[in-house]
Amino acid sequence: MRKPFIAGNWKMNMTHLEAVNFMQDLEYKYKNKNNCEVAVCPPATALKSVKTIIDSDNLEVKLGAQNMYYESRGAFTGEISPEMLKALGVEYVIIGHSERRQYFGETNKGVSRKVNAAFNTDLKPIMCIGESLKIRESGKAEEFVMDQLKECLVGIDEEDIVDLTIAYEPIWAIGTGRTATSEDANDMCLAIRRKIEEIYNKKISEIIRIQYGGSVKPFNISELMNMSDIDGALVGGASLEVDDFIAIINYQDSSDT
Ligand code: 13P
Repeated sequence: MRKPFIAGNWKMNMTHLEAVNFMQDLEYKYKNKNNCEVAVCPPATALKSVKTIIDSDNLEVKLGAQNMYYESRGAFTGEISPEMLKALGVEYVIIGHSERRQYFGETNKGVSRKVNAAFNTDLKPIMCIGESLKIRESGKAEEFVMDQLKECLVGIDEEDIVDLTIAYEPIWAIGTGRTATSEDANDMCLAIRRKIEEIYNKKISEIIRIQYGGSVKPFNISELMNMSDIDGALVGGASLEVDDFIAIINYQDSSDT
């Protein structure tokens, strides 16, 4: 049984002071009826402040970063190493988000180096893959996403892969209010799981968690989470509103009475 995993990607939003206010409000209103794993991924400048609140309030929320570099140290101005994140108490790190690919030239090869570096530092990567609208309309979305997956997983062995979260985020659904239908999202997550089985084995494919991301909101989360192969969500905009984020965490599970 895979534990549902809801993560908030704050992107480039919130100063560390705003982050403190957000976390205090989250702590005050927090409930988690589905016993999900929950993470927040603030900008690097707010990681320390957010961690302090999580620890002092014993909040059952994990800390994630939005990016990192794959080298440990050196002359890489502006970059942050896996060790630096680890030392701050970071547990998860988003790697290969489509915005990083689109605006900062990240490639599958770079993503695979980062995923390897994350595992070498005991960080758990949330690795993002997903197709553009043009590719979806050409009918080649699955082929494209499977190629991305294969290339991003180069060098990842069986021991590590179980701690990988894959986030399927179709680019055309991000920040657009246009969600993939639950069926389309699930079909792709299932295809990803089958590919994992092909590359690794069935057991691993059944353990690995696959999130959907792209305009996830309180009104559509329950349908998405009740699909067979969607194990969680990577939430952008709606994770910036405490009430919305809590509503998403507390989606309606179909097994509830
Ligand atoms: P939105 O939820 O704002 O569409 O963002 C999705 C996303 O990119 C999460 O990483």
